[in-house]
Amino acid sequence: MTFVIANWKMNFTFNDVVEYCNQLSKVIEKEQECKLIIAAPMLYLSSLVKLFPGLTFAGQNVSFLSEKYSSRTGDVSAAMLASCFVKYCIIGHSERRLYNFETNATTRQKAQNCIDEEIIPIICVGESLSSRNNGDYISDIKQQLIESIPAFVNGKAFIIAYEPIWAVGTGLIPSTSQIQEVYELIDKTIMTIAKPTAIVYGGSVNSTNISDILCVEQIGGILLGSAALRLSELTQIIHILGNK
Ligand code: PGA
Repeated sequence: MTFVIANWKMNFTFNDVVEYCNQLSKVIEKEQECKLIIAAPMLYLSSLVKLFPGLTFAGQNVSFLSEKYSSRTGDVSAAMLASCFVKYCIIGHSERRLYNFETNATTRQKAQNCIDEEIIPIICVGESLSSRNNGDYISDIKQQLIESIPAFVNGKAFIIAYEPIWAVGTGLIPSTSQIQEVYELIDKTIMTIAKPTAIVYGGSVNSTNISDILCVEQIGGILLGSAALRLSELTQIIHILGNK
């Protein structure tokens, strides 16, 4: 089973997403080869879960607080997401690390909160361009993994998303061997900690370059940003995966 995680980020009105999901529901019925997960804006999640029981939705973020309820204006706890039947949540995306000052420590806490509520965390790691260029990327990714994965994750479902920061939203994409090298690093680093449900790749994936990415051994799926904003592009990608 290959995961396709469609990250809408901060896009679309509610009417737009209902129309999108109506169309998507018709396509997805016929495609059994991949597990599609849509990371929707928090505000829309509970309605979408009710309106589209045939689709699977994820949060794009969750509070780092482990309490169910707290005096934290604007925060949403993992327990609240679970109470709306949200099954997955993206954690530690590079945009949140960059613009919301999130760290490996908050990522780890958020992932733990998800696991405690039986939400499957999609934990993002990936190096910056300077880290890639100066050769520090191996130790940087290793450190992110060790510090971002909760201690007692063994036996629990969790997904690792390898997303090089320099590939997110830029149109740049690593070579298959560059992705392969990091996959092996991830495998080696977390082997003693836990076995992830899947390791997915994200960063400028589209219907033209996906075939190259699928050549990576152990590819567990893909995380899409801009390609998921066009339904025709997303359905084409799902179709390619179905025929692989
Ligand atoms: P992109 O975004 O596909 O637009 O590069 C990927 C992501 O942010 O996860």
